[in-house]
Amino acid sequence: MTLRQSARAGLAALVALGSAAVSRTADSPPTFARDIAPILYSHCTTCHQPGAAGPFSLLTYDDARKRARLIAQVTRSRFMPPWLAEHGYGDFAGERRLADTQIKMISDWAAAGAPEGDPRTAPQPPQYTEGWQLGPPDLVLTAPAAFTTPATGPDVYWNFVFHTGMKSVRYLRAVDIRPGAPGAVHHANLLIDRMASAHEHEASPGAGFPGMDLDIQRSPFDPEGQFLYWKPGNPRPHEEPSGFASRLNPSDELVLNVHMHPTGKPETVRPVIGLYFTDEPQTRFPLLVELEADNALRIPAGARDFTVGDDFKLPLDADLLAVYPHAHYLGRRMEAWAVLPNGTRQWLIRVPDWNPAWQGVFYYREPVSLPRGTVISMRWHYDNSAANPRNPNSPPKLVTGGNQITDEMAHFRLQLLPHGARDQRRELDEAVLHHRLEKDPADFSSNFNLGAVQLSRLNPNAAVASLETAVRAEPARADARNMLGLALAATGRNGDAIAQYEASLRLHEDGRARFNLANAQVKAGRLDDAVENYRRAMEAFPDDPLPKQRLEETLALRDQRRNERR
Ligand code: HEC
Repeated sequence: MTLRQSARAGLAALVALGSAAVSRTADSPPTFARDIAPILYSHCTTCHQPGAAGPFSLLTYDDARKRARLIAQVTRSRFMPPWLAEHGYGDFAGERRLADTQIKMISDWAAAGAPEGDPRTAPQPPQYTEGWQLGPPDLVLTAPAAFTTPATGPDVYWNFVFHTGMKSVRYLRAVDIRPGAPGAVHHANLLIDRMASAHEHEASPGAGFPGMDLDIQRSPFDPEGQFLYWKPGNPRPHEEPSGFASRLNPSDELVLNVHMHPTGKPETVRPVIGLYFTDEPQTRFPLLVELEADNALRIPAGARDFTVGDDFKLPLDADLLAVYPHAHYLGRRMEAWAVLPNGTRQWLIRVPDWNPAWQGVFYYREPVSLPRGTVISMRWHYDNSAANPRNPNSPPKLVTGGNQITDEMAHFRLQLLPHGARDQRRELDEAVLHHRLEKDPADFSSNFNLGAVQLSRLNPNAAVASLETAVRAEPARADARNMLGLALAATGRNGDAIAQYEASLRLHEDGRARFNLANAQVKAGRLDDAVENYRRAMEAFPDDPLPKQRLEETLALRDQRRNERR
């Protein structure tokens, strides 16, 4: 036997010994290799690896040894791993929580001087793909232009518009959003712009546009059903289960709404998004429903427990799949529960110590079944006293609802899947919009969206009433007047419809309103005007066959009339 061979044999014996000694005795302290590495690799290194959100890597013994005392401290206080939802109040997938025994193990290890143990017995560090976490995306889109944050001042919201360039319908299984500039970016929401109209806000194509309250005209047939979010609390993108991937049409555009906070120096933000597709069509249609109480937010300076809430009665049987609570720095505690028709009260989530730095979407391990008639309640508690360590104002001052990070919010979003095979999003949506209007009857967007849903549900009389309220609230909104025109036409008030389309076009030139106007003019016998407007609609939508087809029909009709007159 050579020297090398004997050394190797000895090594093998040691390894065998090491793996046999899986349970440690009272007098042998925990070691990194045997006890600590498995905890760090399963609970910490998704964020504590190079390039991730954590301020340092915890992949190697050296990384951990240097910070052993700090690690013991932050795990004992349950500051790490960060997780907002209280254990036992809702059963969430991917719960980040250490067992008491694991916390004690880390403490004992740090107290013993952070021994390494036998490195050969340590588990392999997890392999993180540098870059995209779900593998190479099917489509990678880079924001057409970067945005540079100011060095100081209030928060900025910027919207980046992405054109997919897709040629056929795809189904969106997952999105990996990389906003860039981690210090400056708080969070980001991706919206599917079904009307492809948000880019009209851009000063030049691709430039993006400012604003937080993104008023995207939604399609009543295909409202938001997925959380396409980037949140610090969700280090990994969510993958939709089979049948849940949402439809993405070639004409859809994507808008990434990014919330940024100046860092002291200008930061360049140019987000990249990775889209993952499936060819399996969508067969399950959840809806994002928001409970909120922003109008009730007038939090006096010094108030220690200012509470607002919202309660919504479910109009149909549904499964609750996920929730997303949202407030800013004064938020301290959040609670949500459901009272079932039989009187049972069930916790949905409880956040005992809110911290906006860890906001995220919480997916239930199993869907929570809520029967029709269930009342879903949420309560937000705020601390506007100097005792709140996150209070942005010193001394405290009155804070109201609003978009700035120094304003407050009281949101609770739910992903609800109506029971049954049928797509029932519009029924649910209509109930949600009615609920919002009970709180704020003149609200523009609730009336506008309700009108669109009512029209899509073949209830044009109700739609006219809702849309007239919307137009009264915001007379200069061209899209609301166009939609009101459609509702009026559907009730047979063709002359009134024409007046609304014309008013809409005076405010804003739009191929859709031209097309609608042309249709109404045909009905009114004004064929020359209709021909002109179909032509203009064709110029606006050269790829859409419909204006061309209607134009040809109208030209033929005009010829026929002329011949009859001869
Ligand atoms: C979801 C991502 C995430 C996970 C999981 C996570 N961390 Fe962190 N950790 C962070 C971030 C981000 C910070 C910086 C926080 C800050 O500055 O407020 C941080 C900070 C720390 C700090 C420094 C605290 C200080 O006061 O300076 C320690 C130590 C730490 N983490 C240890 C751990 C350990 C141990 C685990 C697992 C048990 C863990 N983290 C899991 C994201 C995470």
